[in-house]
Amino acid sequence: MMLRMTGVGDITICPMSDADLDEVLAIEAVSYPKPWTREHFLDELNSPFASPLVALDGEGRVAGYLCPLLLFDEAQILNVAVRPDLRSHGLGRLLIESLLDDYRNRGASVLGLEVRVSNEPARTLYRKLGFTETGRRPKYYENGEDAILMEYIFDQPGDGNAV
Ligand SMILES: CC(C)(COP(=O)(O)OP(=O)(O)OC[C@H]1O[C@@H](n2cnc3c(N)ncnc32)[C@H](O)[C@@H]1OP(=O)(O)O)[C@@H](O)C(=O)NCCC(=O)NCCS
Repeated sequence: MMLRMTGVGDITICPMSDADLDEVLAIEAVSYPKPWTREHFLDELNSPFASPLVALDGEGRVAGYLCPLLLFDEAQILNVAVRPDLRSHGLGRLLIESLLDDYRNRGASVLGLEVRVSNEPARTLYRKLGFTETGRRPKYYENGEDAILMEYIFDQPGDGNAV
């Protein structure tokens, strides 16, 4: 899927490949206190349940990525990040919306994730996309911070209010 976004230019969403990993790891390193390693991403690339995506800018550089998995009808977002210079232009929203479309078509019923209590940008993004907070894991992260559990419930066919 290719589209033009204000402030960002042309963006293409496509499956992540090994060739993206150097740029993905550079974004990962500046996005998280405990970044995933190359092996983490390789596991996702090789998993039959995972469908990692990248957003590429007009020059083919990685602008952001998303690592989700779908097991039967239950899905999880394991990782999502946008290149710092391209944040707040709608790329995170775009990556997750393309996933919601894909997983809805593949029969997912629920999409869950964990987010740091302090991560207001991510919590706001998820809330705006229709995720609700369903729980909390105390002291889940390495710095003693709690995780908030969030879920998106897919409409079932026939509900009459599918997006
Ligand atoms: C979380 C992240 C992926 C969001 O990506 P993004 O492209 O900047 O987000 P978007 O521009 O699509 O923003 C979507 C919504 O989120 C909210 N949002 C985004 N950045 C925000 C910020 N800094 N503060 C508050 N809200 C913010 C906005 O309300 C925005 O809504 P709008 O489109 O109606 O304005 C990005 O900040 C990031 O890579 N963070 C580091 C990695 C991370 O924390 N990942 C999530 C782990 S759970």
